[in-house]
Amino acid sequence: MTETGVGAAAPDALRTRMVADLRARGAITSAEVEAAFLRVPRHLFAPEVTAEEVYGAPEAVFTKYNSQGKPVSSVSAPWLHAEMLEAAQVASGMTVLEVGSGGCNAALLAELVGDQSLVTTIDIDPDISARARKQLEEAGYGRVRVQEADGSKPIKDAPAQGFDRIIVTVGAADLSAAWLDQLAPEGRLVVPLRFRGLSRTIAFAREREHLRSDTLIVSGFVAMQGDSAHAPHVVRLSGADVRLVVDEDQPVDDKALAQAFTGPRHEQWTGVELSGSEGLLPRLEVWLAGAIAPYGRLRATKVAADRGLVGWVLDKGMPAVWNHDSLAYLTLRRDPDIPQESYELGVIAHGPSREHLAVHLADAVDRFDREARTTGQPVVRAYRHDDKEVPDEVTVDKPSVRLVVT
Ligand SMILES: C[S@@+](CC[C@H](N)C(=O)[O-])C[C@H]1O[C@@H](n2cnc3c(N)ncnc32)[C@H](O)[C@@H]1O
Repeated sequence: MTETGVGAAAPDALRTRMVADLRARGAITSAEVEAAFLRVPRHLFAPEVTAEEVYGAPEAVFTKYNSQGKPVSSVSAPWLHAEMLEAAQVASGMTVLEVGSGGCNAALLAELVGDQSLVTTIDIDPDISARARKQLEEAGYGRVRVQEADGSKPIKDAPAQGFDRIIVTVGAADLSAAWLDQLAPEGRLVVPLRFRGLSRTIAFAREREHLRSDTLIVSGFVAMQGDSAHAPHVVRLSGADVRLVVDEDQPVDDKALAQAFTGPRHEQWTGVELSGSEGLLPRLEVWLAGAIAPYGRLRATKVAADRGLVGWVLDKGMPAVWNHDSLAYLTLRRDPDIPQESYELGVIAHGPSREHLAVHLADAVDRFDREARTTGQPVVRAYRHDDKEVPDEVTVDKPSVRLVVT
């Protein structure tokens, strides 16, 4: 595909620079993904912003908002497209289903499989499907199949042996049964999955009757709409400034925890250190989902931090646990005695059983430090509910699957 018209050289140069940056940061690792990125004219899929913004974008370009001003569609960030495509391991001749259509990723997929008609992209929003169809056509990818439907349901015209790759590009709270049914025996499923207040794009391959993850990417996506839409339960601990985010319908007594939060705080330091470069906290967050339940996320605004209502809580929140009358969450401190860029993990707890709960969470952190600190990414397995192989461990129960994290 070549550009025509005034200023045509600029997008080519910007694209080449973007690809070099993605290579340098390790988002692109294969020659195939690199070649696809060099060919697809990304700027044609986000005409609402300049080519400089499209190719320089560290994050997504939002393309549609709902009536409350919340983004409902976007063209994902180049680094995220790249990491997801690398994790998907798409090869020439494969059939691919993309759930959520921005046009751009479908074009990249068409380049990777070599035949546009092997790619199906599906979006629930008629505006987005129409937009994707038009932009794909204009960019030279008019044979990509664009469907308008709820992508969590069985897809019409799916290949009889299933899709070789299913790539979901919208935040899901469950692994839809349709994806499990329509994935080829040797297939891979890449999906941004929300669980326990966390959001991870997970690449799964089949392992006997279940799926096993081999890549986890920290990422945020707009939430899925339609029958599989799911909003977490949010417990307001101090108005909207301090919130406990509870996924998967775990039991929680909102009133008792809000009451607990008004009471004294107990602090306990774990001696477990994180250094910024290790990426340890994202791994610990996922690992804890397989170690403790109930488990969720405490989030706080800057106002809450300034008023001293919470300890050091990162913008994306911190792991939290609770029982019938108390809650505890992880916090961080920088200690003058520990090396630069290192932080110590601690626990802050409130409520009548705060000391007990603080020990419970600190013990789990200690176990991670001893058993899992050096073992790489946690592994997420997804079992159908009738699978006899589900291990006897802490599970994260979704409508269609049970997740086990180790
Ligand atoms: C992040 S955008 C997709 C990005 C895109 N794949 C790209 O090329 O960058 C997410 C899309 O998912 C769509 N969506 C939300 N719920 C859906 C559902 N249940 N089925 C299919 N599409 C859905 C939204 O309308 C939105 O356009």
